[in-house]
Amino acid sequence: MKLSQLIGKRLQIGEKRAREQILAGNALVNGKVFLDPHHPVSRFEEVICDGRQAQAATSRLFLMVNKPAGILSATSDPVHRTVLDLIDHPARATLHLAGRLDRSSTGLVLLSNDGGWTSLLSDPARLVEKVYLVGTDRPVPADAADRFAEGFWFATEGITTRPARLEILEERCARVTLVEGRYHQIKRMFHRLGGIRLTSLHRERIGPHELPADLAPGQWRAIAGIN
Ligand code: URA
Repeated sequence: MKLSQLIGKRLQIGEKRAREQILAGNALVNGKVFLDPHHPVSRFEEVICDGRQAQAATSRLFLMVNKPAGILSATSDPVHRTVLDLIDHPARATLHLAGRLDRSSTGLVLLSNDGGWTSLLSDPARLVEKVYLVGTDRPVPADAADRFAEGFWFATEGITTRPARLEILEERCARVTLVEGRYHQIKRMFHRLGGIRLTSLHRERIGPHELPADLAPGQWRAIAGIN
């Protein structure tokens, strides 16, 4: 919302009077004088005009959850428990997710009340790395890394998957790094390797955010150090 609109509405002085106050240097956004009535303000900023508080700043929340299997990556669902059901924070209803995991998958899910942050992390153009540990029902073939790097044609979407990294850790265990998040992407990629099925799929990292080893399945915590 524009600064003049917010002040006019919240202090019930009308937009014209709000504009006059702003131009007279009487409006503070996060403690600084703002002279532009059109300046866009978010709910995360405190706005004071002529000594009266027009808006208190809402705290930004950045959380991580270790999603157990069986929990839906959604904020509400009529049937299944969702990741939001795992979060006992008073502002939980304001949270949304930065990317999803299948119901059977486990590991890192990020949530925030700041749509700008979740959009940046989920924006395919930003090529944010997502790292997964996977278990397979059969040995991972030796050429799997090359196949993942080349990409797979997904006819449903009409795209070739972006180059992905695959590192074989054990005969039936690999670490996969993607920079996109298509529907069932890793499951579909493995299926192309002679019908391999996954026995587990666990997300370890999204961009700079790593799932801490001491965050047990079903637990959440605030992420420190984000502005
Ligand atoms: N790829 C999948 O197939 N499932 C997930 O949950 C994440 C990536």
